Parts: sequence; structure tokens; C-alpha cells
Amino acid sequence: MARLSVNINKIALIRNSRKGNLPDLLKAARDCEAFGAQGITVHPRPDERHVRYADIPELKRVVATEFNIEGNPAGKFMELVLQTQPTQCTLVPDAPDVLTSDQGWDTIGNKAFLTEVAARLREKGIRVSIFIDPDERQVEGAKAVGADRIEFYTGNYALMFPENPARAVEPHRRCARLAQEIGIGVNAGHDLNLDNLHYYKEEVEGLLEVSIGHALISDALYYGLQNVIQMYLRQLR
Ligand code: PXP
Repeated sequence: MARLSVNINKIALIRNSRKGNLPDLLKAARDCEAFGAQGITVHPRPDERHVRYADIPELKRVVATEFNIEGNPAGKFMELVLQTQPTQCTLVPDAPDVLTSDQGWDTIGNKAFLTEVAARLREKGIRVSIFIDPDERQVEGAKAVGADRIEFYTGNYALMFPENPARAVEPHRRCARLAQEIGIGVNAGHDLNLDNLHYYKEEVEGLLEVSIGHALISDALYYGLQNVIQMYLRQLR
């Protein structure tokens, strides 16, 4: 079964819209775990509009499942991750002012940089995942820089899914098969939801983990966090 890592950035976004600590991010992380989440993901960005840098050590203290920090290894990010030592660091090539991540790494053009970053993280015992588009050359490139896993960007899959699910998932199927052959683990994330998740999980061989934020937290407004986590877990069975 693929593991569900809940991205709690949107909970931090609501908290940051007022002074004070409502909703309480640490409590939300603990509750997601109590409700069945097998991991907690955060994506700190330089403007700290979602999770703040100061939240990260606190979260590390309370997260009992897998803690995944994702983001661009620039500025304060690397220092923060190396100090925190989460279970996994997912490297994402997002620009500082981007609304949300919208593409994966060019693992070939950035080979030297990613090799150095991956080595520094692995030295600290942190699992390294590289966010890529489902493209065979990028899978091989991620393996070549020493990553343990890749995370497929599923934004385009989600976009095409309602119209043509088989076509939408095809590059993911092919690349996941290649990943298994060359010995690199497969995660996925972005715009996964209650409609498109089960099909993705069924079609993508060896899927280890999905990280889901926007749709899951939005669904929680209607169903509540506890129900929603169970609903997403059911899609992954
Ligand atoms: N994976 C990565 C690398 C991301 O940047 C994000 C969004 O922060 C996600 C997964 C989760 O995407 P969503 O919020 O659409 O579920």
C-alpha cells in the first residue's frame, strides 16, 4: 500500500491569515497522524506564507511518522533541513515567488548541483527524493545524482484525468516501471484528489508514497479531517 503523507501547508496558511495560533499546526500534525496519516509533509518557501521556518524544528519534535520537508535547496532551506534531519527531503525546483510547484527538475542539466545536495543530505541519514516530470531521461538522471526516490509531478495527470485517464497516466506507468528496473523508489504528488487517486495508485506500479495537501484540506472543510484521511487511505488500498 502506498503511504499517505499529508501536506499541512494549507493549515499554516489559514493560521498565518491572523495573529495567534489558530489552527494550531502542531496539533493538526499530531491529529493527522492519529487519524491514520503515515507521514507529514511541509513545504517552506522563502516568503513563509505557508509553514514558517520556525515551525520546522517544532514539527520535528512532534511528528512520530515520516517527516518530509520539500522545497528548493537554496537560501536557508539546506541549513534548516540538515539541522532538522527529517525522514525525507524532497528537492523541488520552484522559484521563490511561484504560486505552487508546477514542474520537476532537469536532473541532467543540474547534475553537479543535485549530486552535491543529495550527498550532503544522505550523509546526515536523510532520504533524498527528487521531484521530476514523468520522463525516462529524468528518472535516469535522478538515479545518476544519487537520489533514493523520485516524486512524479502529477499536476498534468490531474488536469488530463477527467478527459482521458489512460493517456494521463501512461508516462507515469512507463517511468515507474523504469524506476523499479534501475532501483529508485517512486513517490507522487500534486493535485491528487478523491477522484483521481485510486486510478493512479492502481496503474502506477510500486508507488511508495503520495503527498497530498490542497484537495485533502479542502475536502476536510466538508467532511472533517478525520473522515477525509480515512477516505484518502481507502483510495490507496
Ligand atoms: N509535492 C510537491 C513537490 C509540492 O510542491 C506540492 C504542493 O506543495 C505537493 C506535492 C502537494 O500538492 P497538492 O497541495 O496539490 O496536493
